Amino acid sequence: MQSKNKLRNATITAVGMYVPPKILDNKYFEQIVDTNDEWILSRTGISERRMLEEGATSDLAAGACLDLFKTTSVKPEEIDCIIVATVTPDMLFPATACLVQNKINAKSAWAFDLSAACSGFLFALKTGACLIESGSYQKVLVVGADKMSSITDYTDRNTCILFGDAASAVLLEPTENLEEGIIDQMLFVDGAGKDALYMKAGGSLNPASHDTIDKKWHYIYQDGKAVFKVAVKGMADVSFEIMKRNGLTSDDVAYLVPHQANLRIIDATAERMGVSKEKVMININKYGNTTAATIPMCLTEYYRDGKVKKGDNLILAAFGAGYTWGSIYLKWSID
Ligand code: COA
Repeated sequence: MQSKNKLRNATITAVGMYVPPKILDNKYFEQIVDTNDEWILSRTGISERRMLEEGATSDLAAGACLDLFKTTSVKPEEIDCIIVATVTPDMLFPATACLVQNKINAKSAWAFDLSAACSGFLFALKTGACLIESGSYQKVLVVGADKMSSITDYTDRNTCILFGDAASAVLLEPTENLEEGIIDQMLFVDGAGKDALYMKAGGSLNPASHDTIDKKWHYIYQDGKAVFKVAVKGMADVSFEIMKRNGLTSDDVAYLVPHQANLRIIDATAERMGVSKEKVMININKYGNTTAATIPMCLTEYYRDGKVKKGDNLILAAFGAGYTWGSIYLKWSID
């Protein structure tokens, strides 16, 4: 809901994305683990995903930002702040956002990373919006970027088929029209979910050692069934609630923009909202789960395909490790 004493909203004024050229299709996974195209497609909705062969998350992120700058008159040196949502930083420090700042030559920007896994983009978008709404900053780049291949165990059929590498970026700027841009958000954490989806080693709890490598603790672990259940409920409930409290019916919503983790979770969320399939942004078939990049990539592709119009009501929704989840209601403002 719109706060009564707000003077300005933050709104998305430009978008960009980068996916590496190398494609891993389902046939590739048939050769490396005990799986098949039919199982992957029917259980997840994924046909292929991308893999970055050389470089790191900051390269994906910089690629997305440079793609964005091709579409706007705003120059990198005008950016005030860069927020990179990622769980696959190039290094633990410095922040990947610092590396991106240097790679895109955004000399005036301060920058930091935000870690909220698959909800990372939503958490970063709201954080960036607050910087704008406060009046302190005019131009904030919000980037979702993950090189999931760097933490994927390609001998584990439960997880390796799910993830891909990608990045996408949006530019936030102020608008005095309080009826457009980022209008409402509901963001949540339940830290009790920590044991269902995590990467156990590499942090201060279990620093890298021969033992952590032997135990494969530097890879994603996921209890797929447990996460599936809470993800369906979390995403569906929060999307329904944000519509309700903003007085929106399914007719008012142009698109649900869900995190792309599993097509069955997306379908369940749309059903709970009463939104038909044509009103759901989907690209999981091409890219798999790219963690923080999924939602801005959907926005970028649908906008560039002419499917999103100024004034459209969009409901963004995500669920991820933590657990973290939430929804953002925004009204699109680019012509
Ligand atoms: N190919 C073939 N079989 C596979 C497989 C694969 N790639 N991966 C798992 N299986 C098997 C399992 O071993 C299991 O076999 P079993 O019954 O003999 O033990 C069987 O398929 C069913 O496994 P299950 O875990 O019940 O499958 P599922 O229908 O739940 O689908 C996921 C698995 C991971 C796709 C699904 O649970 C999921 O999407 N979870 C949530 C992901 C998510 O939202 N994450 C949060 C954000 S990242």
